[in-house]
Amino acid sequence: MSGATVPRPLPAPISRTIPQPRPSVADPILDVRDVTLRFGGLTSLDGVSLRQGRGSVLAVIGPNGAGKTSLFNCLTGAYRPQQGSARFWPTAPATSANPAGASALEGVGEGGVELVGRSPHRVARVGIARTFQNIRLFPEMSAVENVQVGVEVRARAGALRGLVPTRAVRREEREILERSHLLLDFVGLRHRVRWPAGSLAYGEQRRLEIARALGTSPSLLLLDEPAAGATASERRDLVALIRAIVDQGVSVLLIEHDIRLVAAVARSIVVLNFGRVIATGSPEQIRSDPAVVEAYLGDSDGRADDRAGDRTAGQAGDRADGREGRR
Ligand SMILES: Nc1ncnc2c1ncn2[C@@H]1O[C@H](COP(=O)(O)OP(=O)(O)OP(=O)(O)O)[C@@H](O)[C@H]1O
Ligand SMILES: [Mg+2]
Repeated sequence: MSGATVPRPLPAPISRTIPQPRPSVADPILDVRDVTLRFGGLTSLDGVSLRQGRGSVLAVIGPNGAGKTSLFNCLTGAYRPQQGSARFWPTAPATSANPAGASALEGVGEGGVELVGRSPHRVARVGIARTFQNIRLFPEMSAVENVQVGVEVRARAGALRGLVPTRAVRREEREILERSHLLLDFVGLRHRVRWPAGSLAYGEQRRLEIARALGTSPSLLLLDEPAAGATASERRDLVALIRAIVDQGVSVLLIEHDIRLVAAVARSIVVLNFGRVIATGSPEQIRSDPAVVEAYLGDSDGRADDRAGDRTAGQAGDRADGREGRR
């Protein structure tokens, strides 16, 4: 972020919010059980289970090809695993029209909602947003237009907006634009509002993707290697941004190779290797776990050396093959 400022509070959803009690991490937001994903003879995910507390940052780390992005794809409807379940407990923003918040969301009961089998669009509507390992913006559209695409996911008027320009529709359009500007401000891109997304610097494009994802008012934000290609100062800004997002009650599931960045924001880490969970624990526990050191963090002498902390885009991060996200 420019000037390394701590972002301003995340703007409220389009409709007016009612203050909610601070979330407790003891309550789950996500409960993944025994997810197995195969492509022909290759097993990308092999009985993966993990649990995330509401309001927390959970990091997923592991070597290239471990299955991290595949896990995101299973949670967001891009892939359908052959086996397993992923329950999600959304927090709908409580509004004056809907003071109950989440409980009023369609189909949300005690057991949460099942993500496996939902289409990407229905996953987004229930309150999960993501960014992509290979940035996916509309490069010709301006920064603010890209964010508007996200904000419109939750808008009421939908496709009718262009057809029936009632007063309510016009008001909603103004609110969408206003919220999109606030989100750009939040991620430190106020000075890039009218710039085509494709002309922004790499780190700025990553922040723009985060703004667009936040536009959908998610309860859970999935970030796939948001620091890939970032400079040291951009990484510090990203840490501040992730903390600010969590301060707003949004839980974050984070794929990241930079173990120092992970330790700065996440209390819990899940380590994947060859599609399996090989360790779960705090950053301290993970750094000293022999299986993790051997599979991922260790150098040839077996010492944990933060090797992953030095990875940048083009190494760990951004394959150009565009494979991720495809069915
Ligand atoms: N659509 C697909 N078709 C075939 N194989 C796939 C597909 N998507 C993922 N895989 C395979 O699944 C395995 C896990 O890939 P995935 O992209 O999830 O790893 P990752 O942990 O995100 O790795 P990286 O750190 O390189 O991003 C790899 O062997 C990959 O080749
Ligand atoms: Mg990946």
